Amino acid sequence: MCGIVGYTGNRPVLPILIGGLKKLEYRGYDSAGCAIVTGEGRMEVYKATGKVANLEDKTRECNNHGTLGIAHTRWATHGVPSVTNAHPHVSQSGNLAIVHNGIIENYATLCEQLKKRGYTFKSQTDTEVIVQLIEYIMTIRDCDLAAGVLSALKLCIGAYAIAVIDRRNPTRIVAARKSSPLAIGVGEGNGEFFIASDASPIAEYTKKIVYLNDEEVAIIEKGKELQVENIRTGSVDFEIKDIDLDLTMLDKGGFPHFMLKEIFDQPAVLKDCMRGRVIAADGGYRVILSAVEQHKQKLVNASRFTIVSCGTSWHAGLIGKQLIEHFCRIHTEVAYASEYRYNDIVVDPGEIVIAISQSGETADTLAAIEAARERGAMVFGIVNSVGSSIARRADTGTYVHIGQEIGVASTKAFTGQVTVLAMFALALGMERGSVDPAEYNEVLRELTLLPDKIERVLQQNDKIRDMARTFTYARNCLYLGRGWNYPVALEGALKLKEISYIHAEGYPAAEMKHGPIALIDQDMPVIFIAPHDRLYHKIISNMQEVISRKGRIFAIITENDHTIRKICSDVIEIPETPACLSPLLSVVPLQLLSYHVAVAKQLDVDQPRNLAKSVTVE
Ligand code: M6R
Repeated sequence: MCGIVGYTGNRPVLPILIGGLKKLEYRGYDSAGCAIVTGEGRMEVYKATGKVANLEDKTRECNNHGTLGIAHTRWATHGVPSVTNAHPHVSQSGNLAIVHNGIIENYATLCEQLKKRGYTFKSQTDTEVIVQLIEYIMTIRDCDLAAGVLSALKLCIGAYAIAVIDRRNPTRIVAARKSSPLAIGVGEGNGEFFIASDASPIAEYTKKIVYLNDEEVAIIEKGKELQVENIRTGSVDFEIKDIDLDLTMLDKGGFPHFMLKEIFDQPAVLKDCMRGRVIAADGGYRVILSAVEQHKQKLVNASRFTIVSCGTSWHAGLIGKQLIEHFCRIHTEVAYASEYRYNDIVVDPGEIVIAISQSGETADTLAAIEAARERGAMVFGIVNSVGSSIARRADTGTYVHIGQEIGVASTKAFTGQVTVLAMFALALGMERGSVDPAEYNEVLRELTLLPDKIERVLQQNDKIRDMARTFTYARNCLYLGRGWNYPVALEGALKLKEISYIHAEGYPAAEMKHGPIALIDQDMPVIFIAPHDRLYHKIISNMQEVISRKGRIFAIITENDHTIRKICSDVIEIPETPACLSPLLSVVPLQLLSYHVAVAKQLDVDQPRNLAKSVTVE
C-alpha cells in the first residue's frame, strides 16, 4: 500500500527517490510521483500512472540537480488511479508539496471550509486537503512549515504518514505519522536524512533508523539535529535504532519472482525461525521462547486466548487455535481483526490477545489490539517485521524471523507464523503441565526435521507446474481439508484467488455436502488436502462424493499412500509428520500451484492487481 520516500542532504535526490520507490513496489500501488527542489528553490513535480518505471521515464527529461525531494507510490482510496490524483500534491501557491499514506476521514468538511476561503482543488484525493490546510495556516499565522504541519494535523481525523516540503527552504522535510508507518534514516556523518515507509529504501545508505510514533512530527533538516514533536504535548525524546534487515532478502536471488524465491526460501528461513529456540537438550529437545519465560505467570494462568489477524495471518491463527487448545488446553478464539475492532467485544479477566501479522502494519490488526488493550487485555505479538507498529504496541511477543517478505502473496510468513505458534503452544503447554512429555519431545524433534521435509516437497515443483496447466482454464476451484488442514484449504484458495484471479473457495471437506456440492461438475477442479491423519478415512468418503458427480480431483497425500492413488491420479506427496505439523508441508504444494497458474496465465505474480503488501488503511 502507498509508499513514501524522501531525502535531504548533499546527494542528487532523484536516483535516491526512484531507487527507493522501486524498493517499495512490493507494497502494491497504481501510480507514482516525486517532487524535487533545487538549491535555488525551484520545485519540479513528476507523476505517472502504472509502474515506477513509467515515472522514471518521465524524469529522464529532468535536469534538476536538487538535493531535497519526496516521492510516493499511490494505492487509490479517494479518486481513481490517475496522474492528477497521484502524489505529490502541491499547495495553491505552488510552494508546498505533500505525499501521504492513509485516509483523512474529515477531508470533505475541511475541503468545504477551505473552499469558502478561496482554495480550489485539482484532485479527488483527501491528501490535497492536508497541503492546502497547512498552507492556509502558514499564511494566516505567518508561521513556518513545521508549525503549519503541527497545527494542521490537530484538525485532521484519520490515519496519515506524510512528508511535506516547502520550496522556499530547500533543506527541510517535515514528516509525521498516525496509524501509518514512517521511518527516518539518520545518515552517518554528513547530516543527511532519509525517510521511507519501511527500512528497505533506507538500509543501503544507513543502519540508523528512527521509527516515529503516532501523532509525532519530525523536523528533518540537512546538517541539523533531528527534532521530533508530539502534536499535542510538544518535544519528545526518540530512540535511534539499528536497522535489522538482511539486504539479500531484497533481491530475487536468481528466481524469476519474489514469490517463488520465498517459497523456496522456506527450509532456510524456518531454520532461522527456530534457531536458538528449539534446542537439543538432555537427549531430547526443548523449546525456549523468551517472551514465554518472561511472562510465564500471566500466560500459564490465561483464562483464554483471542487471536486477531487478517488474511493469511488469520489462517495461521486458525491453526494456532488448534495448537493452543491441543497442547495447552486453553480455550482460544480466532477473530478477523477488521470485525473484532468494531464488535462489542467482551474481554475476560486474564484474557490474552495474540496479534499475528507479517508486516506489523496492518491497520485492522493494529486497531484490534488497541481495542483489546483498552479493555485490559495483555497483547502478545507474533510479528515478522522488526520494529513495526504492531511489534511496538504489543506488550510482549515473538518475532517470526523469516526475513522480509516481498511477494504480495504471503508464503514463508505463513509457515513461519505456524512454526512460532507451534513453539509457543509447546512451550506454554510444558509450563502448564498440559502436554504429554513424549509428544512434546516428538513434535519438537519433528519440527527440526521439517526444513528437510519441505525440501522434498519442493522437489516436486516440475510436477506441480505441469498440473497447474489444467487450472489456467478453470473459472472456479474448490479446496477441501479437514481438522488441521481445513485452514490450509482456506489458504490454498486465497493464494489462487489473489494471484491467478480464479474464484476459489476453501471449505471443510464434510461441509461440502451442505451446499457447495451443487457446484461440482467436470469443469470444477477440487483439491483435497488429505494427509494420513485421524480424519483420513472420512476425507476419502468426501472424495468419493466428488468423483461420483464427475468432479476432477487433485490430492495432497502422505508419501506411500496407495489407497488415494487408486482413486486419484493427480497427487502430490508430502512426507510423514505429526498431524499438527502437517499444514507446514501441505501448504507448500498449494503455494507452488497458485504460483504456476499465475505464471501460465502471464499475470504479475509479485504485484497482483488491486492488492497491497501491507494494508495500512482500514
Ligand atoms: O501483514 P499482515 O500479515 O498483517 O497481512 C495480513 C493480510 O493482509 C495478508 O496476509 C494478505 O491476506 C496476503 N496478501 C495474503 O497472501
